[in-house]
Amino acid sequence: MTNSTQNSSQTNQSWGGRFSEPTDEFVKIFGASVFFDKILAPYDIQGSKAHAIMLQEVGLLTKVEKDQIIEGLDQILAEIKSNTFEWSVTLEDVHMNIESRLTQLIGNAGKKLHTGRSRNDQVATDIRLYLRAQLDDLLTEINRLQTALLDLAEQEVSTILPGFTHLQAAQPVSFGHHMMAYFEMLTRDAERLVDCRKRMNSMPLGSAALAGTTYPINRKRTAELLGFERICLNSLDGVSDRDFAIEFLSASSMIMMHLSRFSEELILWSSAQFNFIELPDSFCTGSSIMPQKKNPDVPELVRGKTGRVYGNLTSMLTIMKSQPLAYNKDNQEDKEPLFDTVDTLKACLRVFADMVPTIQANRDIMYNSCKKGYTTATDLADYLVNKGLAFRDAHEVVGKSVSYGIEHQKDLSELTLEELKVFDERIDNDVFDILSLEGSLCARDHLGATSPSQVKSAIKEARKNLS
Ligand code: ARG
Repeated sequence: MTNSTQNSSQTNQSWGGRFSEPTDEFVKIFGASVFFDKILAPYDIQGSKAHAIMLQEVGLLTKVEKDQIIEGLDQILAEIKSNTFEWSVTLEDVHMNIESRLTQLIGNAGKKLHTGRSRNDQVATDIRLYLRAQLDDLLTEINRLQTALLDLAEQEVSTILPGFTHLQAAQPVSFGHHMMAYFEMLTRDAERLVDCRKRMNSMPLGSAALAGTTYPINRKRTAELLGFERICLNSLDGVSDRDFAIEFLSASSMIMMHLSRFSEELILWSSAQFNFIELPDSFCTGSSIMPQKKNPDVPELVRGKTGRVYGNLTSMLTIMKSQPLAYNKDNQEDKEPLFDTVDTLKACLRVFADMVPTIQANRDIMYNSCKKGYTTATDLADYLVNKGLAFRDAHEVVGKSVSYGIEHQKDLSELTLEELKVFDERIDNDVFDILSLEGSLCARDHLGATSPSQVKSAIKEARKNLS
């Protein structure tokens, strides 16, 4: 008896043939991905079924074998769903666990399933199928959040709050307009996901280990069965490319960046200092020591989770950096950042879509705060320009009036005509229309600006475009 036959029972049944020593116990655990890649099982089975159907059609499996494989795979899926499937670390990953169980269930036909493929093209296919399905769920969540934003914007079209630059009160804006800014960001976010789906929707299966296979496979047929729009046209690239995943992580980072900006505003606005909005108790927590506290945990967590998603993007870029063609075991590290991003993103979008409809605007507080910051100063300058002054000179005149207002603790609209006239003779009674917050808001009445009528039509247009 040779060494190798002596030890073959202790080595991995899928690839143990050339090994004479069993795998080190810790290396087994170290190298295994089954702990996390088992969530790919439904996609692995979907891919295997399509592969088996194609194999039968090209004559590499009999109909009976193909039927046995399909039935066996269905049973395995049922076992996995009902939590009765026994996952084995020795079998390394989701692929070998399923294949081994299949052979246990149906015998010889199970051993034929891997004809003309490798785990390398198998896993590359699985993660594309997984991500494609997740993308569809994510798009649904974005849509739900956008709808919530539209509803809130519609309700608050005429609510006035200070718009900020440098976090200093700048000009009055409609709260609806402010909400619609996030709607716009999410529209681009959804477009980015749709765009990255296109490149993701290309099938690597058939690339086999790296060079293709000697069997007369029909890749177009498998792609058709799996709903792929295209086939990866280079086998080396097909098994090793993960840039579709990097694109997804980058689009996800952008979504989280947007949600973190929104979170930051919600956190500021719900503080006692701003008090612009009220978040419901159901989305906040208390403090175990300070009884007065109501903490905006949900937006804070979303802001914090942004860091995880950026980290995942950096991980994936670094995992792929400098990898020689084609597949390397490094690629096994692609999964956790991907899965974590999908889960994080789904949860954050979901919680935002649920929370946005509960946001209560403290309209009076927003309004009064807007009155405090000389937010209509630009309107006064524009008024003077209309009366014939050059903008720079008008800017200077208004600067002086603001300084006077600060000194006398009065808003521009609270100065008398006599007081205003000191700064420029041309100022007349009609100035008070433009110095009011409503006047300022309504005057910005062109496409993309904040007047209530523009915001209303922006909302209407957006609703039409949101499918
Ligand atoms: N578990 C592996 C992964 O996630 C599957 C591919 C393994 N291929 C190999 N040649 N060892 O990447």
